[in-house]
Amino acid sequence: MYAYNDIDRRIVAERVTQFRDQTRRYLAGELTEDQFRPLRLQNGLYYEKHNPLLRIAIPYGQLSSKQLRTLARITRIYDRGYGHFTTRHNLQLNWVRVDRVPEILAELAEVDMHSIQSCGNCIRVVTADPLAGVSPSEIADPRPWAELFRQWATLHPEFATLPRKFKVAFSGGPDDAASTRIHDLGFEMLKDTAGNPGFRVWAGGGLGRTPILGRMVRDFLPAAELLNYSEALLRVYNLQGRRDNLYKSRLKVLVQSLGAEEFSRRVEAEWTHLRGGPLTLTPERIAAVMAHFAAPAYENLPHCDARFELARRSDKGFAAWVASNVHAHRVPGYAAVTLSLKRPGKAPGDASAQTMEAAADLAERFGFGELRTSQTQNLILPDVKKSDLYNLWQEAKKFGLATATVGLLADVVACPGGDYCSLAYARTLPVVAEIQARFSSQTELADIGPLRLNISGCVNACGHHHVGDIGILGINKAGEEHYQIILGGRSTAPAAIGKVIGPSVSAAEVPEVVARIVAHYRACRYPKENFSDTLRRIGISSFMSAAYAIEEQTFDNEREVANG
Ligand code: HEM
Ligand code: SF4
Repeated sequence: MYAYNDIDRRIVAERVTQFRDQTRRYLAGELTEDQFRPLRLQNGLYYEKHNPLLRIAIPYGQLSSKQLRTLARITRIYDRGYGHFTTRHNLQLNWVRVDRVPEILAELAEVDMHSIQSCGNCIRVVTADPLAGVSPSEIADPRPWAELFRQWATLHPEFATLPRKFKVAFSGGPDDAASTRIHDLGFEMLKDTAGNPGFRVWAGGGLGRTPILGRMVRDFLPAAELLNYSEALLRVYNLQGRRDNLYKSRLKVLVQSLGAEEFSRRVEAEWTHLRGGPLTLTPERIAAVMAHFAAPAYENLPHCDARFELARRSDKGFAAWVASNVHAHRVPGYAAVTLSLKRPGKAPGDASAQTMEAAADLAERFGFGELRTSQTQNLILPDVKKSDLYNLWQEAKKFGLATATVGLLADVVACPGGDYCSLAYARTLPVVAEIQARFSSQTELADIGPLRLNISGCVNACGHHHVGDIGILGINKAGEEHYQIILGGRSTAPAAIGKVIGPSVSAAEVPEVVARIVAHYRACRYPKENFSDTLRRIGISSFMSAAYAIEEQTFDNEREVANG
């Protein structure tokens, strides 16, 4: 994995020194709240509902076991012994003290980490497929390109104060595991007919109060032009994006208002000046970064492992875990494994210091000391020998890391909601707990099959509710917490924004509504048909009537009256 060079180290060390002094001046009353605000935001420090919150960046989700141990140590010393893995390769600490944040940043710097550009109106942490480099379906490993982008975007002086935050994702292939279309800028790896790498470029996607899927603005960008083109695109946004209205300042609004064709034309015009210029990626530069992502020392193994197959046949619990948590690997004899951070009664994505240390141990014992964070708030071991899977499963169980629900209904993605976030209209965590309690049978979950449930505590959509098969959005209805139900979203290819199906319901009603939707899906699906295909085939109104347990015709009539 990428190791910082002297320049990276100097940038991060200087930032720690700078922020230490800014914090000292703030605490001494020499800087006002307003003066300190942009300084702390540039270093990932939010003021939240109960306490300051620190957001630590994990570029493209790659972590070494050493880094994870440091994160565990930090949560123990400076926080309450746990952290929260988000949907965009960040770790959030909910209970930090402002005066100790410079110390945290200094500890992070020791292991090549920081929280620079993890909030504020800048280019945020770059994300990628959690299985980048090991996925059998990828066209090419997106991590070296994401790293080149990260280097260029870090402290880029021209783009330090954009109209609004700017999120970028790199996916390795057409299945789009990085969800590029819900990002401001998305790069999808391609190869041209001669086998040269490049990207399909998507721009103007985003969730929040106005969910929009990114539009294709270039069908093939030669990889060497990645930074020239990005500079052109960011420049158009920086100069032409709106700054007069917070809600209209994301790139998606500019792309919508100009149209994708006109936006793309403006970017191309700017790119003409930059193309082939100093930011062009030379073969030497590319090779130097790629060397950091060279494959680890895989052994020559057969595709099948007899011990693994036997264990799978004889142990049902293991078989269930393999079916949901173990993923195909491009190298024979290996698999990628999700260590689930979803446990009944625990906030999705929360990990205690002990859990993090256990995961770091497992990465060393059963892999090459490397982990990934996933968009679904779990951890991943990318390189496990199939022959080790049974032992890994038994060890992971001891630390509560083997919940066999990955990709299933109980693998809920959730924002922290009203328990932590001052912007929330409603709590999310108790609703998640109720849903997980309702769907606790492994057999039932497996029978339902892959189903993504996402929940957010307000329209900002941090829990990606627009792109779950089932989405739940907390709203405020006459002073009470209520929840809208949304169906049919998807963030990977083919991406779709879900639709609200009808009136909101109370927290107590949510599990029952979800159960009715699931029952309807099971009753109506063809064998092996996934949720979105069933929804498309039988129509959303069929699910609406099922969700509210009323006759379809009656419901439609009521809606017409209500809308009138
Ligand atoms: C607790 C402090 C948080 C605050 C104050 C916050 C604030 C916001 C706001 C205001 C937006 C809307 C941006 C827009 O529409 O332009 C947003 C979007 C988003 N947030 Fe958060 N958030 C927080 C925590 C989180 C967490 C914990 C996660 C992950 C679990 C997260 C992930 C996201 C994502 C993925 C979006 C998506 C949509 C987009 O940018 O288009 N946020 N957040
Ligand atoms: S969706 Fe709303 S409630 Fe949830 S974390 Fe984001 S801003 Fe807070």
